[in-house]
Amino acid sequence: MKAAISTKAGNPDVIEIKEMTIPKVKLGWVLIRVKAFGLNRSELFTRRGDSPGVEFPRIQGIECVGFVEEDPSDTYKKGQQVAAIMGGMGRFFDGGYAEFTLAPLDIIFPFKSNLAWGVLGAIPEMFQTVSGSLNQALEIEKGETLLIRGGTSSIGMLSCQLAKSKGLTVISTTRNPDKKQALRDNGADHVVIDKGSIQELVKQIYPKGVNKVLELIGTRTLKDSLKCLAPRGMVCMTGILGNEWTMKEFTPMGDIPSLGRLTVYMGESKNLSKELLQDFIDEVESGNINLNIDKTFQLNEVAEAHQYMEDNRAKGKLVVIT
Ligand SMILES: NC(=O)c1ccc[n+]([C@@H]2O[C@H](COP(=O)([O-])OP(=O)(O)OC[C@H]3O[C@@H](n4cnc5c(N)ncnc54)[C@H](OP(=O)(O)O)[C@@H]3O)[C@@H](O)[C@H]2O)c1
Repeated sequence: MKAAISTKAGNPDVIEIKEMTIPKVKLGWVLIRVKAFGLNRSELFTRRGDSPGVEFPRIQGIECVGFVEEDPSDTYKKGQQVAAIMGGMGRFFDGGYAEFTLAPLDIIFPFKSNLAWGVLGAIPEMFQTVSGSLNQALEIEKGETLLIRGGTSSIGMLSCQLAKSKGLTVISTTRNPDKKQALRDNGADHVVIDKGSIQELVKQIYPKGVNKVLELIGTRTLKDSLKCLAPRGMVCMTGILGNEWTMKEFTPMGDIPSLGRLTVYMGESKNLSKELLQDFIDEVESGNINLNIDKTFQLNEVAEAHQYMEDNRAKGKLVVIT
């Protein structure tokens, strides 16, 4: 099989296309003929060598969609459509950047769809993250106001659509004024240009603050996001686009407003159900959701795709088809 393998930690050029042996199937695992996979920011960190415990060479890819090739447990039939996400995939065992991958049964999600593989590939991890952050962590409700910090990211774009469909009012942020219209077209009610501090701009729109904040930039902007909260509001930190994992100073009684709430979302396959994924795929198929796929690459272009993501050129999801 052909695989894009990260030979060592480093820049995108450490990713090489190689001929490899198809993994040998074993009980409890499913051999998948990979048709497509989404690219994820965390894969960029892993490639740089910033994911603890990951050893190289490694076939990366924390998700994929494709057909079942072989399942010794007979849970799934050959040719059945499946997705696989997380659970150590592409980090502690070889992942989706290949024509075949071997994934444990507990991270497999069967589905049925007539959508193109290039569309299906965008869905599993993006949907799991957005749905988990909004519904399980932030517990969003109709009528609330939601600030999405890092609005042009693929997670931010889908979050806006799902929040709008649930009846929330959305403020989305970007650092780049050229992306303002894309956020508007995606459904944002307000767009704020983020130069690092936006609490005053948000309070100009909502003087009492917002009910919920989806924080995708991370520790760099977290304190400022907490200052955007209305009484009893909640911030969920789901992303670290700002590239800083640790905060130098944090004073809980001071940085978190009184009665304000702070949570994080670190989604896993267990946060997703087969039914939820199928329902979402059906929504996409019926045209109710626009996935904002920015660009589709071929398997032998994974290094270019990583560079594209690293350069922040995308206004949505990047997908690779095999
Ligand atoms: N917790 C979880 O379970 C989970 C799962 C998946 C993803 N995530 C996280 O969610 C976040 C979004 O992921 P994604 O794949 O959707 O990202 P993405 O599409 O690659 O995001 C790209 C956008 O990020 C913004 N950005 C990049 N570098 C930035 C910086 N230094 N400071 C501020 N903004 C920056 C840029 O927006 P502008 O140029 O428009 O400002 C860019 O358009 C990531 O941090 C990812 O790790 C978390």
